[in-house]
Amino acid sequence: MSIEDLLSQLQNDYLVLNPQVKTIQDLIEAKGETIVNDHIAFRTYNLPKVNIRVLAKTFIDLGYQPKDQYDFTEKKLNAQHFQHENEKLPKIFISELIVEKFSDKLQSIVKTIVDQIPEDLTKQWDFCASKRSWDISFEDYETLKKESEYAAWVSAFGFCANHFTIFVNELNQFESLQDLNNFLKDNDIKLNDSGGEIKGSPETYLEQSSSMAAEIEVKFTNGIKHIPSCYYEFARRYPLPNGNLFHGFIAKSADKIFESTQKKKT
Ligand code: NI
Repeated sequence: MSIEDLLSQLQNDYLVLNPQVKTIQDLIEAKGETIVNDHIAFRTYNLPKVNIRVLAKTFIDLGYQPKDQYDFTEKKLNAQHFQHENEKLPKIFISELIVEKFSDKLQSIVKTIVDQIPEDLTKQWDFCASKRSWDISFEDYETLKKESEYAAWVSAFGFCANHFTIFVNELNQFESLQDLNNFLKDNDIKLNDSGGEIKGSPETYLEQSSSMAAEIEVKFTNGIKHIPSCYYEFARRYPLPNGNLFHGFIAKSADKIFESTQKKKT
């Protein structure tokens, strides 16, 4: 087992969850670019069986270091990012829903989900890629969604990459994140415009944008439904005053990026 094996497993699953990712990669590669991944993001609940610590274990074992922690007060999430000394490896961003801050109903559905996960599975090296190991009804998914779109997303997809991120600094044909956004929009890719298309600025050392999650078929206990899956993120980083590139995250920007898995209100 190596980090490369895990990353390729995560990538293969991610391409299945959002076929549009391949379209975006092909469009960019057709311009002669090589895509570098800035970070991979995971979502989970803060229950001890599946929290950030549990998901992070494999990455720590593979040489990643815990870095900054983040609070998302409004969405009731904690997050932390992990970095490898080999800068060619993507950063790992893991967030968790603070379950006790929600209604008893939400807590009880989440508990039912987590109780179904085999204890052994959570100790496996590829637990973060184990997807969904529980059954859930579409009604429960919808109940979760009323309080937290994030809680519902985890209930439907489980443990897998929520998004990969193109590191825009490594692209040669796109001078700015805006250039990349324009190129994608010209090719009929829908971008998340919650809080403006570009979140962050050179002053915060990080600019991010993202596609809207594609809707795919998901099996619930009472049938198949179409729901938003994964999105693709684009990040451009800027040097800190000390000259080093900023490798952290900006909670205020990520807050809006989380909304890329929201169903578009029409
Ligand atoms: Ni991200």
